[in-house]
Amino acid sequence: MFKAIVAAVASFLHIQAATAGWTSDATYTNAKPATLAADPYVRWDAKTGQYWAYSTDGAEDGWLFGIYTSPDLATWHKQPGGAIRNSNESRIWANDWFWAPECYYNEKTGWYFFFYAGRYTDPQKVAAYFKYPDFEEASKVGVAVSRSPGGPFINIDQKPIDYFPFDPDYRDVNLLMSPPYLVPPATLVEGNTAPLGTYIPFIDPNVFFDDDGSIWLFFSRNAYRNWVWSAEFARYVEESNIYAVRLDDAWWRDPHARTMPAVHASFRDAHKGEPKDWQTSVNASFPGPTRKDGWVPVISYKLGPQVWENAHVYDYEASQGTRKNRRWSEGSTTIKRRDSAGNAVYFLTYSANNFESPDYGVGYAYASKVSGPYTKSPSNPILSQDPSKSIYSTGHGSIVAAQGKESGNAELFYTHHARPSTSAGRYLYNARLFVEPDSLYVGFGPSAGDLRLPRGVAPFSIAAKPSSASAWDVTVRSASGAEFDLANPGNRLLAWVEGATGAQVSVQGSTVHVSGATGSNAKLYVRYQRARWNETEPWANVSQSSGIGAKAQFVQTVLPLSRHQKRGELEEEL
Ligand SMILES: *[C@@H]1O[C@H](CO)[C@@H](O)[C@H](O)[C@H]1NC(C)=O
Ligand SMILES: *[C@@H]1O[C@H](CO)[C@@H](O)[C@H](O)[C@H]1NC(C)=O
Ligand SMILES: *[C@@H]1O[C@H](CO)[C@@H](O)[C@H](O)[C@H]1NC(C)=O
Ligand SMILES: *[C@@H]1O[C@H](CO)[C@@H](O)[C@H](O)[C@H]1NC(C)=O
Repeated sequence: MFKAIVAAVASFLHIQAATAGWTSDATYTNAKPATLAADPYVRWDAKTGQYWAYSTDGAEDGWLFGIYTSPDLATWHKQPGGAIRNSNESRIWANDWFWAPECYYNEKTGWYFFFYAGRYTDPQKVAAYFKYPDFEEASKVGVAVSRSPGGPFINIDQKPIDYFPFDPDYRDVNLLMSPPYLVPPATLVEGNTAPLGTYIPFIDPNVFFDDDGSIWLFFSRNAYRNWVWSAEFARYVEESNIYAVRLDDAWWRDPHARTMPAVHASFRDAHKGEPKDWQTSVNASFPGPTRKDGWVPVISYKLGPQVWENAHVYDYEASQGTRKNRRWSEGSTTIKRRDSAGNAVYFLTYSANNFESPDYGVGYAYASKVSGPYTKSPSNPILSQDPSKSIYSTGHGSIVAAQGKESGNAELFYTHHARPSTSAGRYLYNARLFVEPDSLYVGFGPSAGDLRLPRGVAPFSIAAKPSSASAWDVTVRSASGAEFDLANPGNRLLAWVEGATGAQVSVQGSTVHVSGATGSNAKLYVRYQRARWNETEPWANVSQSSGIGAKAQFVQTVLPLSRHQKRGELEEEL
């Protein structure tokens, strides 16, 4: 008995040691994107041993927000349904514009929190949050919860988070304009006749959990209701900006996840009494909000103008008067690092311009305090289109560490959307992200070519079981047991028969069909392959080894084909 336990422990240790040293030559390429998804947010989920992506689009009828899973951050499998059932049982509060979801897991309580933007169109509700019943872009952020990363997520409450961001210094030039609000005042003098103050509609939530326990919500102020006078271009330009606010933490600590996030006391009603003579409503039938909360500016043009952000300042002329002159900064993600002196460095990535523009891309800024001020990198944009690699519209991604291992020499990825042509939809792409705190540099590896998989995916395992007299169902799994989608064009099985002549073998996704193979020594070989960038030789056989110098072995299984053995055990080469 004692001996048996020692042996079991020893072999467990052996497996642990071997797992730690596994290497694989498997790669992925962004050149053949297969999964449509916009505004992806990705997290590693330790419980299920795989990466989960959430997107604005991709939900089936009756659902909101698409969900995808992946063992390797590169080949994705679309989950059925979506994140939130679009029905009353989910406590839906918004009417439309369900955008840019993110999901965070609380290890202590076991709850998954799903943040997303949505818009009110019901005039009564619009007025209750923005004063004017006809306020056009009445976007707010809601939070839904689930016990599972795959949902369904249910809104904590049938309303958005308790936050009324207010800008007391803004000249509300929309009040001087008429729908469709394309033509702002021609001069600053005229714009300055507009009344002061507006509520801020906001989208693109990104919650940052600082290591001192404080929780911050980064968000994008919708462009609407934010015409900014540009002396440089002698015109008003409608801007979206990135701001931040501290949240309280009662919602995060609630073991039952029934508490909605609320703005931290230090920001609550920070603009009370501003501006003077503020009327809370325009019409007694439509009461407006009474709170005026604060925020800190993070990214805007005037806080460090950069030329690449100006792609759309002449859109009104260029579109013959059908589009506004605009500047976007949206879709931010924040991470924290320490430089070699131990000082905190906060990095924030964001997208600028419209995804249809050649100048659409991702920039970053850094700060020594979470609340800023943030300095834009002179190397912006750090990710943008590359026609030589057929990658366009690169933007709005999120940062994820390999297997969620944030500390030490974390291996980081920026999973983002992009398009393989200027007319295609937005697909999932995956870029390496390098952070060097001392030189304050964030860079991306090549977005095309053959890229190494994130750490921890190997060793792979492969298994097959007969599904009929002439077919096998094959599964390939990552080290953490997550299954590869063999119907994804990034993955393939190669199958052949040895020891028999005249065998016919065909592969469809995870199914291998064999006919005409006779002979007691006939064997079916099934090998796992990955798509490569190389057009001449588009597939690579995946091999792996358990340490430096160890003989690499292919990820494959060998199945005896003789009838009496066929339904029995199979022998794995690994
Ligand atoms: C939700 O409930 C309201 C009334 O409470 C009803 O009018 C509406 O049809 C319901 N919506 C759905 C999707 O069931
Ligand atoms: C207030 O709104 C109601 C409903 O739309 C409208 O009938 C009424 O004329 C409005 N009153 C004023 C003073 O604008
Ligand atoms: C593609 O593969 C072929 C055959 O292995 C090789 O000769 C060629 O150099 C590769 N091309 C690139 C761009 O890697
Ligand atoms: C993959 O393995 C198969 C079977 O051994 C072989 O025929 C093929 O040439 C290999 N492909 C590459 C790219 O090495």
